[in-house]
Amino acid sequence: MARFVVAAVLVFAVPSWVRAHPAHAEEVNYPLVTGFNRFHAEEDAPEYLAKGGELLLNELNCTGCHEPPEPLRARFSGVAGPRLSGVGSRFGDESVLQILLRNPRMLKRSTSMPSLFAGPDRDEEELAALYAYLVSLRQPPGEPLLLGNIDRGRELYHSIGCIACHAPDTEYFPPALPKDATVEAPAMASQPVRIALFWTTDYLTRFLLDPVKYHPSGRMPAHGLTEIEAADLAAYLQSSPMREEPDPALLQESADPALAARGRELFASKGCANCHDTGDGPMPLRKARPLLELRPENRGCLQDEPLAGAVPYYYLSPLQRTAITLALQGLALAETSVTLDEWLTRMDCYGCHSLEGRGGPELAREPYFGAISPYALDREEFLPPALEGVFERRTDAELREVFTGNAERRYPKAGARMIRLPDKLIEEFLRMR
Ligand code: HEC
Ligand code: HEC
Ligand code: HEC
Ligand code: HEC
Repeated sequence: MARFVVAAVLVFAVPSWVRAHPAHAEEVNYPLVTGFNRFHAEEDAPEYLAKGGELLLNELNCTGCHEPPEPLRARFSGVAGPRLSGVGSRFGDESVLQILLRNPRMLKRSTSMPSLFAGPDRDEEELAALYAYLVSLRQPPGEPLLLGNIDRGRELYHSIGCIACHAPDTEYFPPALPKDATVEAPAMASQPVRIALFWTTDYLTRFLLDPVKYHPSGRMPAHGLTEIEAADLAAYLQSSPMREEPDPALLQESADPALAARGRELFASKGCANCHDTGDGPMPLRKARPLLELRPENRGCLQDEPLAGAVPYYYLSPLQRTAITLALQGLALAETSVTLDEWLTRMDCYGCHSLEGRGGPELAREPYFGAISPYALDREEFLPPALEGVFERRTDAELREVFTGNAERRYPKAGARMIRLPDKLIEEFLRMR
């Protein structure tokens, strides 16, 4: 534990080439929901800010505990956290799991996982039991994977579209740019890559090959990578001096079965199971006040300091609290379906595509798609296509091929790769035709 805290402080004292690495990019100080940051601001009219609040209610999985009424269920289906089956073999450093349990923000400041143990009545025995339970969730190692190459990973990371959502290495120079150009840093917050620094390389490679298998929300999309590409990306993302190689002895450590069984009960009663699947059988979910009965004035999870009783603490920003409060006040009248614009915002398709002038890559990120200058006549050919009229120019069958990676490329100059979606999300998209 102490070792990790020291390491975290050191991040700010390391040479600039280390800070340039995307794993050390600056983070916002509240849970980052890209679509909220991009499309909402203090100046919003209250009705519009309330829409931002609805986005947060879904993306922060508030509705995983505060159940929506039947008519609102499709609109607030929520966002599951990572699958935790095998999580005991995922980190080779005890302190990382300990921190994730106590206060995940110490690892990733802008995480959307709330802390259930930030309150004044934090119970060390409960934490020890939960830790034992997580350690007990082991998986036998799979077939060994290829080892990647850092330089090839760095090129891939900056050219296939990761930069639409994640931070560039500030010392990377996009090859499309003229030699005398200056590279501008993106102004919009990026999704940090932090926790992956502490995963085993094997797990990170598997995650990149099929992120939705491990993070079922699909907010981190698949890119149709080959095994060697995933290995290269993993090698690059973990090439930070902050990373410590996992301790093989710890990966062998076994948990006290009685303590782990107590931890499993707590995993359900504290509400971890409302967000995480652990793959070891059904668990009762934590019950909280239904969505339509929430009184924002009672604060609860909207509180600006942690409460006792394992009430989740999200470290929301004041603007996020205002937006959620407005959303809760108007929920009885909320739409029941999700519009195309809302869906593209939730999935952050807007990181790459625009629709009716909304979204598309931020100007400072365009060079990573191959665009040379905002004034070049062919600039748009380098960007993923705008989605206006897509339902007219493409049949459902064609769109399925696009989303499963089986379609021929129609925009060969576009520097990024189209992502892959699982069937469930493809069908959600097609329903908006
Ligand atoms: C892990 C489960 C869980 C999640 C996730 C969760 N809450 Fe809560 N929330 C609770 C519990 C438990 C309480 C305490 C009162 C109760 O039992 O409803 C509570 C209380 C509240 C209250 C006060 C309720 C009242 O009227 O007394 C509000 C408002 C609230 N939560 C909003 C939210 C919002 C907004 C989010 C998402 C950012 C969220 N909650 C996510 C479990 C959860
Ligand atoms: C459309 C936006 C988007 C694109 C494109 C994208 N990601 Fe992500 N990524 C996310 C989001 C959102 C998260 C956090 C939620 C989650 O993990 O499910 C994430 C999480 C991650 C994580 C784990 C986060 C952590 O704390 O360590 C890694 C590693 C990662 N992405 C790598 C990549 C790589 C490599 C690429 C390119 C092949 C890529 N991502 C492309 C949106 C994106
Ligand atoms: C409101 C939903 C929510 C609740 C409640 C919640 N988590 Fe999480 N958890 C997440 C999200 C989202 C992430 C991904 C964090 C990120 O990448 O920033 C996560 C990440 C994790 C991870 C890291 C997984 C990995 O592969 O890196 C562990 C371990 C974990 N949670 C354990 C727990 C435990 C134990 C509890 C209960 C004490 C809990 N979580 C409660 C949403 C939740
Ligand atoms: C990392 C960037 C990236 C992200 C994120 C992304 N796309 Fe794409 N998308 C592309 C590229 C590049 C193409 C063009 C592929 C080609 O050459 O045909 C494309 C093509 C498409 C097409 C076919 C358009 C046409 O006119 O043929 C559709 C539809 C589409 N994307 C929808 C989506 C949706 C919906 C999402 C979010 C779930 C999404 N995309 C996320 C990069 C991206």
